[in-house]
Amino acid sequence: MAENKKLKIGIIGTGGIAGAHLANYKKFPELAEIVAGADIVPGKAKKFFDKNGMSNVRCYENHVEMLENEELDAVSICTYNTQHAVCAIDALNRGVHVLLEKPMSVTLEEAIAIREVELKSGKILSIGFQPRFDPNMKMIKHIVESGELGDVYYIQTGGGRRRGIPGTGSFVKKETAGIGALGDIGCYSLDMVLNAIGYPKPVTVSAYKSDFFGKNPLERPTSYEKFSVDDFAAAFIRLENGTVIDFRIAWAMNIDSPGDTIILGTKAGLRIPSTDCWNGTVGGPMTIYKTIGKTNMEYQVPLLESKTDLFELKIKSFLLAVLKDRPAPVPTSEIIINQAILDGIVQSAERGREVEISIPEI
Ligand SMILES: NC(=O)c1ccc[n+]([C@@H]2O[C@H](COP(=O)([O-])OP(=O)(O)OC[C@H]3O[C@@H](n4cnc5c(N)ncnc54)[C@H](O)[C@@H]3O)[C@@H](O)[C@H]2O)c1
Repeated sequence: MAENKKLKIGIIGTGGIAGAHLANYKKFPELAEIVAGADIVPGKAKKFFDKNGMSNVRCYENHVEMLENEELDAVSICTYNTQHAVCAIDALNRGVHVLLEKPMSVTLEEAIAIREVELKSGKILSIGFQPRFDPNMKMIKHIVESGELGDVYYIQTGGGRRRGIPGTGSFVKKETAGIGALGDIGCYSLDMVLNAIGYPKPVTVSAYKSDFFGKNPLERPTSYEKFSVDDFAAAFIRLENGTVIDFRIAWAMNIDSPGDTIILGTKAGLRIPSTDCWNGTVGGPMTIYKTIGKTNMEYQVPLLESKTDLFELKIKSFLLAVLKDRPAPVPTSEIIINQAILDGIVQSAERGREVEISIPEI
């Protein structure tokens, strides 16, 4: 694509997170212009753009109509999870590049369908994991890749909130979110560690999930009946390279923290402090544990501060990938593995036994 071209952008879904997409596209007026938006709720897109001082943006109530009527270069897909696959496939099929919010989809089947169309279209599809741009996340990957830990054989990861179920909207209903804490914050924990170790494929998953808090009338007196996703999940995941991941994620639980992320290697171990409100960040300086001779040593990796907002980096990297024919910043070749694990957790928990995971070569 010509480098001096300004990309025509559409936004599909103008709810909560669309505001962050809009604000960050606006930071790059020389690279992109939002020309259209669609939301299935009548009048919602218009209200959204008016509120943001962009009354000239053309609004639709149907994403296909928008894709058919506009000559878009790219779209941000900011719908709830159950609409990710259909919107991404419709855009790619019309030759439009896609920045798709996380999680990639609800099921592995949907993720496979998206990736097939993506590869056929030759367009860029990047998944909206902005923690990837956090220098601390990059440091975790750097530490693992440096060999300092030796061979990584065990990872404990996840996180959670003592009480932190996100409201009563699209996140807590099966028909809109598909999955709960798993898709909201679980995918971040998995991305943090899988990205660090090079995204090996999963082989088996044995998992558990529950909804004791979301469905409790004492916790949610006016909305417990509408809660229809997981608020807690735990899993034991075997990867093809022999590494195992012990994972847990919670929107609500009767404990302050389900523990830090730890990465155990044959030469050293890494502790990554969790946060109170887990959302894909590192909670404090990391520690490397090493034994030299017979001496146990520990040293800290200071917390790094990003000079630029992570969401801004997510939008900028997507725009530059499209304009300069670069690879997708957060590619589906990796995130399909994240999705396969989420799907495996749901399957295993529902069947009450371990399941095998198989991701077809696409
Ligand atoms: N990266 C992040 O930091 C981050 C943060 C919050 C949410 N998210 C993700 O963003 C997505 C949206 O979250 P949200 O909080 O904005 O949800 P939301 O419910 O506030 O907004 C979703 C919007 O999409 C609209 N919509 C649904 N299907 C549509 C379709 N086919 N065409 C057009 N519009 C459609 C809905 O009417 C709604 O307005 C979720 O997948 C969520 O996981 C990411």
